[in-house]
Amino acid sequence: MKNFAVILAVDEKMGLGKGNALPWRLSRDMQRFREVTIPAAEGKLNAVVMGRRTWESLPAKFRPLPGRINVVLSAQTGLALPDGVSRAGSLDEALVLLTARADVADIFIIGGGVVFAEAVQHPACNKIYLTRIAGDFSCDVFFAPLSADFKLLRSSEEFKENSLSFQFQDFERL
Ligand SMILES: NC(=O)c1ccc[n+]([C@@H]2O[C@H](COP(=O)([O-])OP(=O)(O)OC[C@H]3O[C@@H](n4cnc5c(N)ncnc54)[C@H](OP(=O)(O)O)[C@@H]3O)[C@@H](O)[C@H]2O)c1
Repeated sequence: MKNFAVILAVDEKMGLGKGNALPWRLSRDMQRFREVTIPAAEGKLNAVVMGRRTWESLPAKFRPLPGRINVVLSAQTGLALPDGVSRAGSLDEALVLLTARADVADIFIIGGGVVFAEAVQHPACNKIYLTRIAGDFSCDVFFAPLSADFKLLRSSEEFKENSLSFQFQDFERL
């Protein structure tokens, strides 16, 4: 089974979202999300795997996320999804199906809270791309404290946008 990376943004309380939406809007962070998840080996596409609630939180005009193979995790076998978007009934099912596809380059787990919690415990998770945003956004979904298995590889400079400060950090599993 292929390894995968997790990509997420958190506030200072490790908050991820509120009311099934992102409580911030940072174009530089969205740019980083595209820069990390889109570029793929020639002739292939990367895959993004997300929970059903995160899929539903994406504005209709942004889904499926373009230039990437979209997979939605859900136990609902009858879940209606557009052509080209796959459902998987478990994280392992998604990883097996994507590993078997010759047209898939890298796999990214893109949320939300339920899926991140399982993903970072998974032995095939070898990288975390984290955006740390200063401030408390009264979130209702949280990320667990990062396990000591993950070592900080690099931190970016601090960015500022809409009076918010944030920083990108890359972690790798030891
Ligand atoms: N800050 C960030 O980086 C970031 C990124 C993404 C999302 N978010 C935020 O996170 C929140 C959504 O997160 P959430 O925790 O509520 O929901 P979620 O993780 O997006 O989705 C949960 C749903 O996914 C399905 N699911 C999860 N794990 C599964 C598994 N192992 N096997 C089969 N199905 C599985 C289930 O769907 P069924 O009920 O259909 O079975 C479950 O109800 C929103 O506020 C969103 O904006 C934040």
